[in-house]
Amino acid sequence: MKINILTIFPEMFAPLKESILGRAEERGIIEFNIVDVREFSLDKHKKTDDYSFGGGQGMVFMPQPAFDALKSVEADRTRNIYMSPRGKVLDMSLALELAEHLQKPSDEARDITIFCGHYEGIDQRIIDHWNMEEVSIGDYILTGGELAAMVLVDAVTRLIPGVLGEENSAMDESIYSGLLEYPHYTQPRDYDGIKAPVILLSGNHKEIELWRFRESVKLTKKRRPDLLKAFLKNHDELEKEELAILMDELNKKEMELLEKHLSEKERKGLSRLIEKREKLAKNIKKLL
Ligand code: ADE
Repeated sequence: MKINILTIFPEMFAPLKESILGRAEERGIIEFNIVDVREFSLDKHKKTDDYSFGGGQGMVFMPQPAFDALKSVEADRTRNIYMSPRGKVLDMSLALELAEHLQKPSDEARDITIFCGHYEGIDQRIIDHWNMEEVSIGDYILTGGELAAMVLVDAVTRLIPGVLGEENSAMDESIYSGLLEYPHYTQPRDYDGIKAPVILLSGNHKEIELWRFRESVKLTKKRRPDLLKAFLKNHDELEKEELAILMDELNKKEMELLEKHLSEKERKGLSRLIEKREKLAKNIKKLL
């Protein structure tokens, strides 16, 4: 599988040779084909931009070098992306979709071509003729598409099986499940009087997993209520211990939203939990 990257600053992609992405390419899992678009300019000064028709500030990327560079990578047979602050914002579901696209059978058009713009923009005919999807990496403006392309390539490549080690599965991470990741701790247990949570040293895997789930829920509720809402609507089957944690951490409105999106089994589990808690509360009242 191959990602073509079309740019007038090919040196900016040197980091793709490093670390995890570099190793993935060395191992033949993926190929990054960096193409210098300036080389395709027919202008004697290798110019790639010109003034904007209709006036206005800034220069515009010209069709000729872009079309010829795109033809050279046979972009009529690739999925084409133009990095642009005007585009659809990159998130995990788009990254997963692109990673899946790259893994299609080799007889299908599965390669991706990314065009990095510069100047004020690129001639609209490049986008239209080559059927480009515009992708943004966030609501801010960069000086060019190269750093954005690197972010996209990194986020997508790490999702391809074999790129990360077995023990470091991309799918284990919380953002994949829909929640933010819980906090991590390592040696020493006590750093200058600051202690790691004792539960993590207990060896009780079930309890550790539940502690992590609770921390993920708390953090997501505080920092990303939008993600929490999406999680409540769409989540993997929840165990009764997880439902109990959600009962502790969610407010009334959040709990109502969750209840609307439970399976039959989860609903039964939740009813039993509520009954149990009510009984416990009554017993405590009797004792007082
Ligand atoms: N080019 C300039 N800014 C960008 C952004 N935010 N995302 C993608 N490409 C860009």
